[in-house]
Amino acid sequence: MEEILVVKNLKKYFVKKGLTGADKEITRIADGISFSIKNAETFVLAGESGSGKTTIARMILRALEPDSGTIIFDGQEITNQEDHLKKIRLGCQMVHQDPYASINPRMTVLDIVKEPLEIHRIGNKEERNRLASHALSQVKLEPVDDIISKYPHMLSGGQRQRVAIARAIVTNPKLVIADEPVSMLDVSVRIGILELIKELQEIHGISFLYITHDLSTASYIGHMIAILYRGKIVETGPINEVLSSPRHPYTQALLDSISNPDPDNLHRDHKIRINESSGINEYQGCRFRARCPYAIEKCKQEPELEKISEKRQVACFVKIN
Ligand SMILES: Nc1ncnc2c1ncn2[C@@H]1O[C@H](COP(=O)(O)OP(=O)(O)O)[C@@H](O)[C@H]1O
Ligand SMILES: [Mg+2]
Repeated sequence: MEEILVVKNLKKYFVKKGLTGADKEITRIADGISFSIKNAETFVLAGESGSGKTTIARMILRALEPDSGTIIFDGQEITNQEDHLKKIRLGCQMVHQDPYASINPRMTVLDIVKEPLEIHRIGNKEERNRLASHALSQVKLEPVDDIISKYPHMLSGGQRQRVAIARAIVTNPKLVIADEPVSMLDVSVRIGILELIKELQEIHGISFLYITHDLSTASYIGHMIAILYRGKIVETGPINEVLSSPRHPYTQALLDSISNPDPDNLHRDHKIRINESSGINEYQGCRFRARCPYAIEKCKQEPELEKISEKRQVACFVKIN
């Protein structure tokens, strides 16, 4: 099996009722998302805050029901297949942005890391202890005997995220979804976590879905990338190619925001557009056209992803160079 995860045409719309009840506002959080992740590959899903990244992750884990679309995990369709839910819940684990959100502050490190084994009824008590200790040594939390009895507040941010990673790998998953795993950490400890993810992949062949708004950490760790803009993938391909020669103006804008980091640059504009959202019409045509310096008349139609080379696709009529 070459692909661990295949997502096809995933859709999720959220409907907010207006004050009168009638003027509904529809937000297309995921609007026909398709991508696939190969074994032992890191696939980056990148986009601004609010673009729908976490919602997509929750649908893959089936923590949230998609409106439509197909998810195939390790060769089995898991959408609408209750029996296959267990398979993804065991075979795919998640590391969250905020380690405090995924680990219980009143539990010891040992109990935190053991918990997924208990949930899935793997091993007896001794085996669980052994597997948890092994996972802690794999994430380099040593000496393990000192770490296991500690509580989360006794650890640094980087150590807490290592505990969350140990918890994610303890069941020996094939895919780990890492949702902005370093964005809340000090810059000085980020690289260590990224190195660890790379190493776990090399040793165990784990595939990663690495979710981020930060293209510089993405390029350090990723093989393939998909750029998400307001619920749609606008560009995808090998990460080196996409980031060195972006063809979508939005990819270019994200790259510019790294070299010229004015944090308000992209977000201010984005927020204004979200607030002024007036129902379904804003989704006619290219979603980026109001912000796009290259927009032409044709952009009032909706561009679909189009193959531009063996592995690259872009959804843009202009396709900058
Ligand atoms: N359960 C929900 N109901 C309504 N809106 C939601 C819900 N979950 C998320 N959203 C909205 O969906 C958008 C995308 O959210 P999210 O997937 O968290 O984006 P990201 O992870 O890229 O920051 C946000 O505008 C958020 O407010
Ligand atoms: Mg998110």
